[in-house]
Amino acid sequence: MTTTEPPSGRSIPPDYWDRVSNRYDRQLWLESRSVRCLLELASPTAGTRMLDLATGTGAVLRALVVRSSRPHHVVGVDRSQAMLGHVPPLPDGWTTMCADARDLPFADASFDLVTASYLLHLLGDADRVAVLEEARRVLRPHGLIAVLTPAIPPGGPLRPLARALDQLAARAPEWFGGLRALDPAQPLSAAGFELLATRHTARGYIATCTLARRATGAPDPGDAAAGTPAGARRRAD
Ligand SMILES: C[S@@+](CC[C@H](N)C(=O)[O-])C[C@H]1O[C@@H](n2cnc3c(N)ncnc32)[C@H](O)[C@@H]1O
Repeated sequence: MTTTEPPSGRSIPPDYWDRVSNRYDRQLWLESRSVRCLLELASPTAGTRMLDLATGTGAVLRALVVRSSRPHHVVGVDRSQAMLGHVPPLPDGWTTMCADARDLPFADASFDLVTASYLLHLLGDADRVAVLEEARRVLRPHGLIAVLTPAIPPGGPLRPLARALDQLAARAPEWFGGLRALDPAQPLSAAGFELLATRHTARGYIATCTLARRATGAPDPGDAAAGTPAGARRRAD
């Protein structure tokens, strides 16, 4: 499946998610299939230390809680306290936290799995790089990242619909929740991840689930800019 690359810089203002938080859950049914696909691809187990970036009202956490094998340690972070206010009660050992995914309050190598459901396509190029650098920093070597992004199929009956929705979302981002298609392969590779698998879903939102692994041995993406690992550079900011 090919996807279009959105223009750099998105037009969803940061307070948008606060404003829509009361009604956000009305569209969760459109996400449910793709979120399940994301979790099937990532396959977290009881021992997986998991971080869900931009957890919002907890779409990933809700789908995770009903899985037969679920991690004991899960953290969901989001920049919008209002969105977090709609996360349902969580099992012991699971927490949510108001934090910016571009500057995470966690030590290096704290997690085995990072998920990001419907986040990367919202970000401008620089913010996407910052988020993926942070995801890489907080993942242990060979840790996994699983991301969910809107997609446009390369052919088939859904392609015209997906293209039309993408164009509408480009013209009126706030009406369509910034739902622009994004192929995350290149940003993930550039941030030091090896692509492992891709799945496409078209029930509900037309989306791509991508699984990648934190590469070791590759130069740290922060090295070229600052001469230090990305985590060290960020801590020094
Ligand atoms: C489309 S919602 C996705 C929520 C949830 N992951 C889901 O699948 O339903 C996008 C979320 O990203 C959050 N967000 C956007 N930029 C962020 C950032 N830099 N750090 C943390 N959260 C961010 C917003 O507050 C919002 O809750």
